[in-house]
Amino acid sequence: MRTSDEIREDFLRFFEGKAHLRMPSASLIPAGDPTLLLTSAGMVPFKAYFMGQASPPSRRMTSSQKSFRTTDIDAVGDDTHCTFFEMLGNFSVGDYFKKEAIAWAWEFSTQVLQLAPERIWITIYLDDDEAFDHWRRDIGVPEERIIRFGEEDNYWGPAGNEGPCGPCSELHYDFHPERGMNGERPNDDSGRFVEFWNLVFMQFYQHLDGTRVPLPAPNIDTGLGLDRTAVILQGARNVYETDLFQPIVARVCELAKVEYGAGDETDTAIRVVSEHSRGAAFLIGDGVVPGNDGRGYVLRRLIRRAVRFGRKLGLTDAFLVRIAERVIEHMAPAYPDLATGRDFILRVLALEEERFQQVFDNGVRTLAGMVGYRESHRGALYELSRFAREHSSGADNAGSVLEQHGFVGHHPDVGEYERQGHEAAAEVVSGAVRAAFEAVEQGNVERIDLAFSEVESWGTTLSGQEAFFLHDTYGFPVEITQEIAGEHGLTVDMDGFRREMEAQRERSRAGGERFAGGPQARIFQ
Ligand code: SER
Repeated sequence: MRTSDEIREDFLRFFEGKAHLRMPSASLIPAGDPTLLLTSAGMVPFKAYFMGQASPPSRRMTSSQKSFRTTDIDAVGDDTHCTFFEMLGNFSVGDYFKKEAIAWAWEFSTQVLQLAPERIWITIYLDDDEAFDHWRRDIGVPEERIIRFGEEDNYWGPAGNEGPCGPCSELHYDFHPERGMNGERPNDDSGRFVEFWNLVFMQFYQHLDGTRVPLPAPNIDTGLGLDRTAVILQGARNVYETDLFQPIVARVCELAKVEYGAGDETDTAIRVVSEHSRGAAFLIGDGVVPGNDGRGYVLRRLIRRAVRFGRKLGLTDAFLVRIAERVIEHMAPAYPDLATGRDFILRVLALEEERFQQVFDNGVRTLAGMVGYRESHRGALYELSRFAREHSSGADNAGSVLEQHGFVGHHPDVGEYERQGHEAAAEVVSGAVRAAFEAVEQGNVERIDLAFSEVESWGTTLSGQEAFFLHDTYGFPVEITQEIAGEHGLTVDMDGFRREMEAQRERSRAGGERFAGGPQARIFQ
C-alpha cells in the first residue's frame, strides 16, 4: 500500500525532477493578504508572484500546502467533507503553460501513481480547444472521456472575493469502469467519479465588481488533493479509512471505547471529532486562538462542534487534548510547526474545551426546555389559533386566552435551565399571539393571515430571539442550535437570528466607541 507520506514525497520529488523549487507549506493565516480569512488553496502563498507584485524565488515551484475551507463545516461528519486538507501543487509563474501542465499531470498520474489510464476522465472549460488538443492529440485521451463544462465546474477562482483566476481542466478518477459508458459523467451525483487534480490556467485577476483583467503573464496553478489520492490508492471508501486519519480515528475509538463501522450515528460522531481535532490543532499551531469573529470564530465552532459530537460518544474531560496529541505525533514529521507549537496547541485546546464543557450542558438544557415546551404545547396552539380566529378577541385578552389554553408560566417540576427555556419559548408565543389579536382588532386582513401563520409556525420554528439568547448566554454557535433543533424537527429562524446579532453589534459599537475613544483608538490598537 502506498502511504500518504510516500504520495506527498513522490509528488514533490517528481516536480523537483522537472526543475521546480520545493517550497515549505505556508501558514494557514495568509501573510499580508487581507482578502482571505484562511489559506484555502496551494496558490494562496504565491499570489503576489502571479500578480507581478513580487519576484518568486523560482518561476517553477512545488509544495504541499496546508489548506482550510470553512464553507462546509456543517457537512463534516459525512464521507467526503473536510475543513482541513493538504493540497499538492505545481506552479508556473509566467514560465510553462497548458502543454507541460497537462503532460506532467498525466505522467505523474499514470506512471508514478500508476493509475490505469482508462480510469481517468478529463474535464475542460467550454471553449478551451487548446486544452482539448493537448489531451486528445499529445496524450491520446479518447474524445468521449474529455468533457466540456461551464464556469461553475471548469473555471477556478478567485479564492475569496477577488484575486487570480482562470479556466481549468480537471482529472477525475473512475471508481466503476465496469459500468461502461452508461451516461454517468464526472461532476454528476452518481458517486462513480472523484475529481482528484485541478489544473488552473491562471490568466486573469478578478476584481470585487467581477471584472477580469489579464495578469502580467499566463501562469499555472495545480492542486492535487492528497486525501482523495490516498483514498484512490489505498482502496479506501473515504479519507477516514486512509492512513491520513486511521491513527486519529483509532485514538477517538480507544478513548470512547467504541468501534468505527458499528453504526451510522457513532461513525458520524467519530468522523466529526477526528476531523475537527485535526483542523483545530493545525489552526492553533498557526496562531489562531478561539474568538467571536473571523478565524477565531471558525476555530471556536470547530472545537465546540467536536465537543458536542464527543459527548454523543460519551467523551467528556479534556478529550480533545488527547486526540490532538495523536494528531501532532502523526503529522509533525510532515509539518514540523506542529511539534514546535505542541504545548501552545494543547493549552489553548484544553482551555477552550473546559470553558465550553461548563456552559454547554446548561445551554443544552435550556434548548431542551425550548423544544420541550413546544412539543407539549403544539396541540394547544392549534386550538388557540382556531379559537382566536373565531372569537376575534382583543389584544387585551391575549393573556387570559393564552392562560385558558394552558400557556401558563412555571412548571415547578423542571430544573432551572429547562425552565429558562420554557420561559423563552412562552415569551415568543405570547408575543406572536398578541400581534395576531392586534391584527384582528384592526381588521387588517393581510396582516391577520401573516400574524396567524406566525403563531402557527411557532410550534416548528425556534425563533431568532431564542437562538440569539443561547448564543449570547451560553456561547452556543447557531449552527449547533440548528443541529440540535433539527434533531427534533425544528428549524431555526436564521433571518431573525441575524437581526438580533446585528442589533447587538450596533449596541456594542455604540458602547465600544464611547469607552475606547472612537475609530482612531481602534486603529491604534
Ligand atoms: N487553486 C486550484 C484549486 O484549489 C488548483 O490548485 O483547486
